Amino acid sequence: MAKTVHFWYLSPDYKALKLKKTMSRKILVTSALPYANGSIHLGHLVEYIQTDIWVRFQKMRGHECHYICADDAHGTPIMLRAQSEGITPEQLIESTYQEHQADFADFAVDFDHFSTTHSPENKAMANRVYLANRDTGHITTRTISQAYDPEKEMFLPDRFIKGECPKCGSDDQYGDNCEACGATYDTTELKNPVSAVSGATPITKDSEHYFFKLSDFEPMLREWTTTSGKLQPEVSHKLQEWFEAGLKDWDISRDSPYFGFEIPDAPGKFFYVWMDAPIGYLASFKQYCNANNIDFDQYLSAGSETEMFHFIGKDIINFHALFWPAMLQGAGFRLPTAIFAHGFLTVDGKKMSKSRGTFIKARSYLNHLDPEYLRYYYAAKLGAGIDDIDLNLEDFQARINSDLVGKVVNIASRCAGFIGKHFEGKLTDNIAEPELFAEFINQADSIAEKFESREYGHAMREIMALADKANQYIDDKKPWALIKEADQAQAVHDICSMGINLFRILIGYLKPVLPRTAEQAEAFLNIAPLQWADLNTPLLNHSINKFKPLMTRIETAKIEAIQAESKEIMDIETDTKSPIASNSDIEPIADEISFDDFAKIDLRIAKIVNAEHVEGADKLLQLTLDIGNDQKQVFAGIKSAYAPDDLVNKLTVMVANLAPRKMRFGLSEGMVLAAGPGGKDLFILNPDAGAEPGMRVK
Ligand code: MSP
Ligand code: ZN
Repeated sequence: MAKTVHFWYLSPDYKALKLKKTMSRKILVTSALPYANGSIHLGHLVEYIQTDIWVRFQKMRGHECHYICADDAHGTPIMLRAQSEGITPEQLIESTYQEHQADFADFAVDFDHFSTTHSPENKAMANRVYLANRDTGHITTRTISQAYDPEKEMFLPDRFIKGECPKCGSDDQYGDNCEACGATYDTTELKNPVSAVSGATPITKDSEHYFFKLSDFEPMLREWTTTSGKLQPEVSHKLQEWFEAGLKDWDISRDSPYFGFEIPDAPGKFFYVWMDAPIGYLASFKQYCNANNIDFDQYLSAGSETEMFHFIGKDIINFHALFWPAMLQGAGFRLPTAIFAHGFLTVDGKKMSKSRGTFIKARSYLNHLDPEYLRYYYAAKLGAGIDDIDLNLEDFQARINSDLVGKVVNIASRCAGFIGKHFEGKLTDNIAEPELFAEFINQADSIAEKFESREYGHAMREIMALADKANQYIDDKKPWALIKEADQAQAVHDICSMGINLFRILIGYLKPVLPRTAEQAEAFLNIAPLQWADLNTPLLNHSINKFKPLMTRIETAKIEAIQAESKEIMDIETDTKSPIASNSDIEPIADEISFDDFAKIDLRIAKIVNAEHVEGADKLLQLTLDIGNDQKQVFAGIKSAYAPDDLVNKLTVMVANLAPRKMRFGLSEGMVLAAGPGGKDLFILNPDAGAEPGMRVK
């Protein structure tokens, strides 16, 4: 008995509302440009996933939205890192560029254009912004004195100077703060300072610098930072400290040697990386406009009616909410429509840590898990504020298994089988429960509003509440029982078609978060890519395809594997020492310990009875160690210095009571002792003749 469909829920008012909302907007969106000297990690991804969801949502709504980014390729750390690797900065940024692009693509972060700040377009744009500001009197010069490394012949940024903390005396403190006691001070106050680049004692040297006169823009900035909608209230509030302290000139030049753009009227002087980085947004967009016939000026000229949004982390607010609007204005460009800052990622409640295996690179995650899980988890946690967000690994696993696998995907898998098996894959021509269907589509505006305002957590909660209702509906109707009754085939057909229609709406709502799952669902449903405006039109009399499971549960082993891989990568990277350290610096002696502390370490003479390469590990050898009454397996990061054959039958010293550690390749049950900076210079300890395996070293 087919029911009549009542589309009462598409009231004229409702349609008008939809129409008004879908008037096409023109929107330019950016995420901060990641530095080109390191890998993308799960912390970065908070930002790129947050932005990508927002952009995908805008596109689904029918707006013209362009998502632009680039690598941030300039600055001293990149120059020094390339030097230490024996390559040019261009080579370093090129290989990082490839790596970043692959990581983003695999996380379904879908930039419309991803460029680099080291491009001719960006050089031209930086010159344009600089010259316009200079010609309107906003650039000044002044001689300053700065720390200088006489050996390396370069000025030293604070973080490349280390010494003893002036407050507590701790050794090896970098720059202007002490990790031991938390004090902050001026870097010039460090005692016994040395250059972290060469080990030389820095001298003070004068040099002429170029400054951007931020205070020229004070009235505009005061107004802009307090205009509602431009900045989050907490951000706006925080910035007032800057005004209270007085806006100071901003140093935008660096002396040679520097990897960056030379300032046009100042040979030997380069733009500071933070000067040409945000300009990279414009240059990257310009490249994209040129290639796609889009009018750059329509977006960027002063008075533009298009929108421009920057998504950033809370650590780089000053650059974006003070210097950037001022530079834009000085160069005759429009100002941002708004800046959206987010908090930092913690893992299991703590800062990401290398030793805990929670400093997780994008690639380590991708090696084991579906990126859509993380996208969903971040969405479920993100709001419009700047609070830090926590990736609790246990909660992550539970949430994915219950929400995505247990609720959403389950709806389709409970209904699809019946449709395929009993009804030739075709849905009925009616909506069995118009009220339930209406409830689902009536939520569209509320969910859209949550996406628009970046309250993704609320959006996910509303969607999951609907998923619960869909499952409840199927539970109540029990198609699996009805199908066994003689005259209930039509009812089963109606119920399962209804279920599939509810599933379709949920997938539409989740599409900005789960683009790949949505794509697979669209293939299963046999429909064109879902747009927001289509969601209220049900599938009637429509043939669907065979259902394949869209997602599987997260197994604990996968999460452990990610942590183990992260720990191992970091151990190896830190084993090979900091790229800026030189052989000449001797590590300072560690804090004093008691004899009892020492006695806790059980050191044993060990005989290396076997040594072999480990497949897939660049730096590790697998050693089997005989310690008299036992054999232990140890993975040691000494492959760069020893061939396995050189080690077999040698005696050495091992830490025998170290907690075993799970690595990607197996369990490591201790540590052999070795000295040296790394690479070829690693030296394992050998006891004098006469020592026997198992003897304790004390
Ligand atoms: N290169 C600058 C940005 C220039 S924009 C003109 C930079 N790069 S970064 O690689 O350090 O960071 C890129 C973005 O990722 C920043 O917005 C930063 O806040 C964000 N995150 C980096 N680590 C993060 C976490 N642990 N958690 C959340 N976001 C983090 O800054
Ligand atoms: Zn200190």
